[in-house]
Amino acid sequence: MEEYLKRNSECWQAGYDAENVESFVFRPYGRIFKTEFGLTGSNHERLLDFGCGQGAALRFFRSKGFDVYGVDISETDIARCQETMSDIPDHFAVIAAAPSEEDVFFGGEYDLIIAVQALYYYSDSDLQRRLVSLHNQMKPGAILYATMMGPGHYKYEHSQPYKDGLRKVEFSLPRLQASDHYVNFTHSEDELIDRFSMFEKVHVGFYDAKYREDEGASFHYTFVGRAKK
Ligand SMILES: C[S@@+](CC[C@H](N)C(=O)[O-])C[C@H]1O[C@@H](n2cnc3c(N)ncnc32)[C@H](O)[C@@H]1O
Repeated sequence: MEEYLKRNSECWQAGYDAENVESFVFRPYGRIFKTEFGLTGSNHERLLDFGCGQGAALRFFRSKGFDVYGVDISETDIARCQETMSDIPDHFAVIAAAPSEEDVFFGGEYDLIIAVQALYYYSDSDLQRRLVSLHNQMKPGAILYATMMGPGHYKYEHSQPYKDGLRKVEFSLPRLQASDHYVNFTHSEDELIDRFSMFEKVHVGFYDAKYREDEGASFHYTFVGRAKK
């Protein structure tokens, strides 16, 4: 496994403590998935959350009726998903940090795949491998929703070029520290569309927030695309 994947993986083993569904998940449901594509959940549509963390988005989509599945590299996070959705423990799996184009999770055939704040922990080459595998697992015309960190995110100013699209992030702030942490920033909407070009672009957007001057903003691009098959 590449060194950067090892380092990022170690950093995520502690788990991502985010128990509640975020507005950048439930708003696209109401504004796009449901209204534009009829993905309401009432047909028990198959949904994969790639990099699902502790399952907040999965619990939300499940409450709407979706047949939900989640994968992550963090054992802590997958254990939390299994604890909070204890009737479907086999819908969650710890996966290898290194992607393969051949990866198929839970039989594939998804109507909707979401990857929220997860895909930018890959290098350019690994990101493309992962996108091929996700695309292969989608039904014709299925929808992908992904979010990608932009240079307006505070981590950018604490980063230096590393390799293959990645930047090494290192900082020590009163509440947060990072060292040996690697992020692949997306610099513009054009670059976003280019990276996801195996999907037909439906919408691009962004979300941002800032709560403390000493931490800066958390700018992310959003991409909604349709499987080209
Ligand atoms: C910022 S958290 C977001 C979690 C969740 N999507 C959410 O929005 O609450 C990033 C997640 O990506 C996962 N992750 C990082 N690198 C990964 C990889 N190579 N494969 C799968 N998951 C990964 C982490 O373990 C972590 O749960």
